[in-house]
Amino acid sequence: MHILCRSVTPSDLADVVDLDHRCFGGLWNADGYRREITSPNSDLLVLEISAQERSQIVGIGCLWAILDEAHITLLGIDAPYQRRGWGRWLLIHLLLAAGDRGLTHATLEVRQSNQIALALYESLGFRVAGERRRYYADDESALILWCSHLQDPAFLTELRTQQQQLTDPLRQTANVATAQSPSWAGRPS
Ligand SMILES: CC(C)(COP(=O)(O)OP(=O)(O)OC[C@H]1O[C@@H](n2cnc3c(N)ncnc32)[C@H](O)[C@@H]1OP(=O)(O)O)[C@@H](O)C(=O)NCCC(=O)NCCS
Repeated sequence: MHILCRSVTPSDLADVVDLDHRCFGGLWNADGYRREITSPNSDLLVLEISAQERSQIVGIGCLWAILDEAHITLLGIDAPYQRRGWGRWLLIHLLLAAGDRGLTHATLEVRQSNQIALALYESLGFRVAGERRRYYADDESALILWCSHLQDPAFLTELRTQQQQLTDPLRQTANVATAQSPSWAGRPS
């Protein structure tokens, strides 16, 4: 098995929309994802696994660059592939891509009840900075998280260390590769 973190291409759209339905219940449609692919202010990444000439997209993450902030708009791993470190791996790629863009802060909203995502974000330097009451259609509140370390050398070193620590065990069970893309060209995966 081979696992790859790469930018989304137009030929991925159908698979990405299917994954969006499974992970987020249908957040964005094909037109929405097409806009992200073409926007210079978006990094839209997928995790793709492949084996025996068949490939499958199992994770998706997106950020919008707004002024000096990275707004993390999506992060999802297909349920059968969760709990393998892949969500963390993908989020680290997003944060490093944000750092490469010169952004200083990352922010996102997460459901108050989403303890799994909260634990992940807090373990990567995000802190709760506020709340949007009844933010979601079902009236659940959103927590607003911020991470302000995107240009902090110690933080970036920690991200790269964690990325490597995750990659090494993955390499024992799969051939792990990170696609070269302008946002992290030259960096070892
Ligand atoms: C949040 C999500 C992306 C995590 O992906 P994942 O690949 O399962 O996560 P990882 O295996 O990389 O785990 C990362 C951290 O998340 C937390 N976590 C993951 N699964 C957990 C579980 N079942 N229980 C408690 N914590 C959990 C842990 O802090 C974990 O770190 P650890 O392994 O050091 O303990 C995934 O659960 C998901 O896609 N959920 C649905 C969509 C969603 O809620 N997205 C976030 C919206 S803001």
